[in-house]
Amino acid sequence: MNKKITVLKGDGIGPEIVDEALKVLDKIGEKYGHSFEKDYVDIGGASIDKFGVPITDEGLERCKNCDSVLLGAVGGPKWDTIDPLKRPEKALLKVRAELGLFANLRPTKMFPQLKSASPLKDTGIKDGLDLMIVRELTGGIYFGEHKTFEQDGETVATDLMLYSEHEIERIGRVAFETARKRGSKVHSVDKANVLDSSKLWRKVMHKLAEEYSDVEYSDILVDNTAMQLVRNPGQFDVIVTENMFGDILSDEASMLTGSIGMMPSASLSSTTLGMYEPIHGSAPDIAGQNIANPLGTILSAAMMLRYSFDMIEEANDIEKAVNTVLDKGYRTVDIAGKDENVTKVSCSEMGDLVCREIQ
Ligand code: IPM
Ligand code: MG
Repeated sequence: MNKKITVLKGDGIGPEIVDEALKVLDKIGEKYGHSFEKDYVDIGGASIDKFGVPITDEGLERCKNCDSVLLGAVGGPKWDTIDPLKRPEKALLKVRAELGLFANLRPTKMFPQLKSASPLKDTGIKDGLDLMIVRELTGGIYFGEHKTFEQDGETVATDLMLYSEHEIERIGRVAFETARKRGSKVHSVDKANVLDSSKLWRKVMHKLAEEYSDVEYSDILVDNTAMQLVRNPGQFDVIVTENMFGDILSDEASMLTGSIGMMPSASLSSTTLGMYEPIHGSAPDIAGQNIANPLGTILSAAMMLRYSFDMIEEANDIEKAVNTVLDKGYRTVDIAGKDENVTKVSCSEMGDLVCREIQ
């Protein structure tokens, strides 16, 4: 198969980690007879520096006209003080909105090999912890009206959290369908004891729960979820939630795995066009040093093969290779912990090691 990938390397460690994922994709192409054509588009600070905007209209078009998008990370202190409407993150939100990427899948998997790197290692979390956060990605407070204005002699600011029934229903369906292929359990996270948008969320989810009666369903409040994730994460299979709750909970959940550097994500639309990116940021403090962990991006590439290209065997191959490399004791610094028996490797060495396991 021939697939066209629009590549958004972005800022900070973005270019380094994306290069490793592309290396792995090429290796897969070689082994299985696919060719992955790449179209490079500037995004974030890199684009601001060149064009004055975080992504150009033309760049956005190229994201729409491909088979899927691979993203590194955007943002950094250099662009923190510019006009908020032009910030690097705006590009990310624009791509999500324009491509209709309403469903963000964030698998949180505990690699048993990395248990010693998890701050929760002594709290009874089980090996093999495996949950999926399904985050709504194109609605809610991220996309409601944002306004700052003067009132009664002081500055006031407001952000609107708005959801319509169809937006809730379509993300709910993704969650229930995902659960059917996994542990058949959905926790829907909301703040229905306070927010109207959450009351509507709950109502729509309850209707779906009746339709998907084979899936075990529970409502859970977001504050309680934050606590339960630390107390007993093994109780969760699929967590479905609105945009901002999902942003916060997925960062929290990532620490169960030992390192946010390990976590991939898929942002899906109603077609096979998706965007794939690690959930971590651009880590400007370690950029350019070849020490970043590329595994979150490599695992995102695996998700691209699975969800956008239906290349299941190829995706499994990458995931198996990552596991083998970890089994053999290779670690980037973020996952090295204090274990003296591991071999510390650079970002590019990690990419090479994964490629070597794909033979
Ligand atoms: C994420 C990030 C983004 C978000 C930022 C960079 C806008 O934190 O993908 O989780 O909040 O969605
Ligand atoms: Mg986030």
